Amino acid sequence: MKDGALLTAEKITGGYGKIDILHDVSLSVRPGEIVSIIGPNGAGKSTAFKTIVGLLRPRTGTINFNGEDITGLRPDLVLRRGLAYVPQGRIVFPQMTVLENLEMGAYIVTETARVTAALERVYALFPVLAERRKQKAGTMSGGEQQMVAIGRALMTVPKLILLDEPSLGLAPKFVTLIFEKLVEMKRAGYTLMLVEQNAARALAIADRGYVLELGRNRFEGPGQRLLADPDVKRLYLGG
Ligand SMILES: Nc1ncnc2c1ncn2[C@@H]1O[C@H](COP(=O)(O)OP(=O)(O)O)[C@@H](O)[C@H]1O
Ligand SMILES: [Mg+2]
Repeated sequence: MKDGALLTAEKITGGYGKIDILHDVSLSVRPGEIVSIIGPNGAGKSTAFKTIVGLLRPRTGTINFNGEDITGLRPDLVLRRGLAYVPQGRIVFPQMTVLENLEMGAYIVTETARVTAALERVYALFPVLAERRKQKAGTMSGGEQQMVAIGRALMTVPKLILLDEPSLGLAPKFVTLIFEKLVEMKRAGYTLMLVEQNAARALAIADRGYVLELGRNRFEGPGQRLLADPDVKRLYLGG
């Protein structure tokens, strides 16, 4: 394990059934960082996240989180260790109110005082959710639903939160807002790893970034360095 890392995925090989999608993929996150993963469609970015959170079991490789080997651990137990996951597609319970959605996120938290404290932190980050707490989530805009989905993950007070394509399919003003919120979350002390199609913006806010291609590590480094790298620019940033 790398010194001081909160999460280390080391040489992960695996995928779906007998088909390997990931080949020796390694990723790490240090406390307080934003780490962005970019790469073409089908590169294995979502598969990497699903493997880290326990939805898929790697065939080889190890995943260490907060000093513990979590390789192959069940998703609910991974969540209890403090690793939250916001899947692609801003999934909310549409018939439930914003508040009910957030409370669902806290299902692993038993003490009422802790739920209240978590709710206050989520409302401080997303004031619109406090204003709309009685509104059915299904009636909100895409950007607001994404805030509900993120807020729900934050209700467990995670040590690390993985976000898969948080800006995908959102109207431009909400794309900007979500990236601002990610930076705000970092300032508030959260540690984030995200996958993004919006590669330039994801690298611009990242302490470090990774480029995955065809299930392999292709480039990695500080976000600003990747942004300025001529090969990364040409191949992945449309420049
Ligand atoms: N449930 C699944 N079963 C089988 N293959 C899948 C499944 N989900 C994704 N794949 C395949 O895994 C590869 C990587 O997909 P994915 O991790 O979703 O890529 P990315 O998130 O980088 O776009 C693709 O070839 C995709 O078709
Ligand atoms: Mg994906």
